[in-house]
Amino acid sequence: MTRTHLIGLLLGTEEDWSGAFEALLARTAPRIDHDGEIHEFRSERVTIEPFDLRAVPRHSLVIDRLAHWYYVPREWLKKIALMDGVYLMNNPFTFQSMEKHSAYCAMMRLGLKVPDTWLVPYKQPPGDERFAYTAARYNQPFDLSDVAGRIGYPLFMKPFDGGAWVGVSQVRDPRELAERYDESGQRLMHLQKAVDGFEVFARSLSIGPETMVMRFEPDRPQHDRYQVDHDFLDARTGDEVVTIGRTVNAFFRWEFNSCETLIRDGEVFPIDYANACPDVSVISLHYYFPWAIKALLRWSVFCCATGRPMRVAMDPAPWFEVAARDTSYEEKLVAYRELADADLAAEEYAEFCDRELPHLDEAMAGYIASPEFDALLVDTVQRTFPPAEHDRFVPHYRGLLRAWVDDQR
Ligand SMILES: Nc1ncnc2c1ncn2[C@@H]1O[C@H](COP(=O)(O)OP(=O)(O)OP(=O)(O)O)[C@@H](O)[C@H]1O
Ligand SMILES: [Mg+2]
Repeated sequence: MTRTHLIGLLLGTEEDWSGAFEALLARTAPRIDHDGEIHEFRSERVTIEPFDLRAVPRHSLVIDRLAHWYYVPREWLKKIALMDGVYLMNNPFTFQSMEKHSAYCAMMRLGLKVPDTWLVPYKQPPGDERFAYTAARYNQPFDLSDVAGRIGYPLFMKPFDGGAWVGVSQVRDPRELAERYDESGQRLMHLQKAVDGFEVFARSLSIGPETMVMRFEPDRPQHDRYQVDHDFLDARTGDEVVTIGRTVNAFFRWEFNSCETLIRDGEVFPIDYANACPDVSVISLHYYFPWAIKALLRWSVFCCATGRPMRVAMDPAPWFEVAARDTSYEEKLVAYRELADADLAAEEYAEFCDRELPHLDEAMAGYIASPEFDALLVDTVQRTFPPAEHDRFVPHYRGLLRAWVDDQR
């Protein structure tokens, strides 16, 4: 019997990764014999419309890029996961933990080296008529500079749920502390000890059990943040960064996520790890873009063909059991990696890809070298940059993608 799986793409403004995903799926047309069935695949962009809560969706899996801000598709995703077992990447039931705060808490309990972090009450109270009465009775006066003094300068003041550097600032002394806090307004802030003088910023992108660790320069413009650099971490540190990313993902059931770590004197400090919609645009990822598209396709095909069950809830118990052991940080990392790899079916997935999708790498190299991809690249550059910069950036990106094709062959 043949079963055709429909992969839904729930998109906002993105055309580049989705176009590449559709092109790669069409070129490879995976046909997989698993458990007595032939599995085939098709993708379709999801449209937004009224829906009957009892309607049966046509999809096997949805890659979501929208539900973190748009509530109509978010509620549709919850419905199809709860009622129909559709596989989601990512799962909106986990969005409550998508601020940075929950991940800091969980990772601290697991013994990871999250810098010391405090949460401080709002500078400007929320506009709720009950606030004045509640605050008068229960809010304790506090000395912000005393909190900062306990953490130590320099520190970072940043929103507990931030993204894209909004409201993030470095604070070096009590005067800056007061100024930045005054500016924070109605935003709820963390104060976090700075990892001062770090040598490397490693940003990893994970898709299912695949992780790409990339050297990142956060201060540079978007096109120049990810560096093409294959040996910037020694093997042990690289493995630790991968383990931390996968641990966070398996713990929270995020299967499409990025994780930021700072490395100083061989120690790895995680600072940012929750991202409902990690950046996968060709403008940012350039050389690493083909890997990301392949991983999205491989993981989607694997989940559908093997019938990987959609799990809506987290299960922190096994992680906390390891955390409570009287063992070293290194031994815990080994145990977390085993848990994460088991949770993400890493071994089964690797065998599946070798057996069922051996032609994918060649197909991707062929696509990236094709006029079809070049047209997508040029279109993306033209949509992203002002006209005066097109002549500079089209050859810039062509060069990076051509380098990737050459490295494959
Ligand atoms: N504890 C820290 N020590 C050193 N640098 C830090 C620390 N926290 C944040 N930074 C710096 O500030 C930047 C922004 O912080 P963070 O990643 O927490 O915010 P963000 O709004 O999520 O940013 P993005 O969306 O770019 O990831 C980091 O990329 C890093 O350069
Ligand atoms: Mg960040």
